[in-house]
Amino acid sequence: MSLESEIKRRRTFAIISHPDAGKTTLTEKLLLFGGAIHVAGAVKSNKIKKTATSDWMEIEKQRGISVATSVMGFEYEGYKINILDTPGHQDFAEDTYRTLTAVDSVIIVVDVAKGVEAQTRKLMNVCRMRNTPIIVFVNKLDREGRDPFDLLDELEAELGIQVRPLSWPINMGVHFKGVYNIFEQNLQLYTPNKQFISESVAIDIQSTQLEERVGDADAAKLRDDLELIEGVYPDFDPQQYLAGQQAPVFFGSALNNFGVKELLDCFVRIAPSPRPVQALEREVNPYEEAFTGFVFKIHANMDPNHRSCIAFVKICSGKFERNVNYKHIRHGKLMRFSSPTAFMAQKKETVDEAYAGDIVGLPDTGTFKIGDTLTSGEQLHFKGLPSFSPEMFKYIENSDPMKTKQLEKGVAQLMDEGVAQLFVNQFNGRKIIGTVGQLQFEVIQYRLLHEYGAQCRWEPIALHKACWIESDDEAELENFKKRKAQYMAKDREGRDVFLADSGYVLQMAQQDFKHIRFHFTSEF
Ligand code: G4P
Repeated sequence: MSLESEIKRRRTFAIISHPDAGKTTLTEKLLLFGGAIHVAGAVKSNKIKKTATSDWMEIEKQRGISVATSVMGFEYEGYKINILDTPGHQDFAEDTYRTLTAVDSVIIVVDVAKGVEAQTRKLMNVCRMRNTPIIVFVNKLDREGRDPFDLLDELEAELGIQVRPLSWPINMGVHFKGVYNIFEQNLQLYTPNKQFISESVAIDIQSTQLEERVGDADAAKLRDDLELIEGVYPDFDPQQYLAGQQAPVFFGSALNNFGVKELLDCFVRIAPSPRPVQALEREVNPYEEAFTGFVFKIHANMDPNHRSCIAFVKICSGKFERNVNYKHIRHGKLMRFSSPTAFMAQKKETVDEAYAGDIVGLPDTGTFKIGDTLTSGEQLHFKGLPSFSPEMFKYIENSDPMKTKQLEKGVAQLMDEGVAQLFVNQFNGRKIIGTVGQLQFEVIQYRLLHEYGAQCRWEPIALHKACWIESDDEAELENFKKRKAQYMAKDREGRDVFLADSGYVLQMAQQDFKHIRFHFTSEF
């Protein structure tokens, strides 16, 4: 197969949702269709059990197990599908944000009873920053939930995107009878079944066949609903979907494997193949012969006796080959990899080649950092791995003065892995660690001790947000930095960061310094 056709048939995406909406279940059903697994219940995903939230070692163990399921590749009807898993636990949200930089589209799972939830909203914002194409799957139709029209209104308002149903439910809960597939114009009748794939019925929606199948009342309601849909919603426009402006919506029940095949069949047809990626120097087209890629995730091995990691590389263009020299741009060095791994279903296996759109895992002993670029030789830097303002902050202090070097090295490497963010206060020189969740502090303390032999302790600091600041007005910027000297810090790239101690202070600063732009992500 030519390079072009290999790349064209790739579909690399992530499934995102608020915890418990059904991401894991849907992933599993998709794998069933791909023949990647044969029974339900086989996926050990990144999902972290609710009961384990206070025990992060347990969580890390589960995360460790899930290396193989971080990326799940499988073949389906001539397409090569790569699903990138994202951690369900919100303390690892930063991981999810970065994973979203490596996908070409996403499927959002929404619980029909709960609608748009906090985590969904956040993740959507990240998708919008990059105009990532989105398909929505409304899940759990076998349970009572919200009126579908209300739900569509909410999706549109909350997610700030135009929606277009491509399937439509006939009742829900105990009266759930199935969905009408608007995209393919056939009827899917519901039989609750967790293991097998249900059959679809070709039906003329205007014929009495519909009454025979679902009864008079539901047939009439379905016809009315469909008429309303055609009247209210614009036609599905693949171009708008690809531009991230219109989201097709499907209804179903992942647990019952219902509506999933329709989703997948439509997905492979409309979802984008690998898209061009912006580097600092130029836009890189996936079909270019020369290999380029970037590290979007580093997964540490939790076994203290083997401090090794896997660096996950998204291939942006061309073909990656085993044992070929590639340039590590930040180090300016050539590197070759004798055991790159690819991820097929549940197995991690050594591969000889991989194509744009694919993810390869490279064994890493501290040479990679999140955002690093690898190329066939060209001097390129991929952009777009934003850091988000952390939600929690603590001073990190050295508890063992004999181990200062180890502590510094450990902190630097953990930051390279993207575990948390480090800021240095310019006023007192103290180091501040910012995270999105309490768990990371425990993870850092434990790993510093067990992997680097260093001991740290945390001291409280009351901060609200970290904002990256910039201005065209040099004088005002200098004035601001002087006035707020106690709250000015630098991030690891040496950029100016304002540490606001309350929402009010931030608001006042924004009012008083009109020529300064305050950013809540490091990419602007
Ligand atoms: P997540 O990865 O988004 O966190 O969600 P997950 O798939 O684990 O699903 C969360 C819960 O919702 C699970 O139940 C799962 O069985 C259930 N679920 C998923 N899809 C459907 C559906 O279509 N209908 C119904 N009724 N339930 C669904 P659990 O009790 O938390 O876990 P488990 O013991 O069943 O694994």
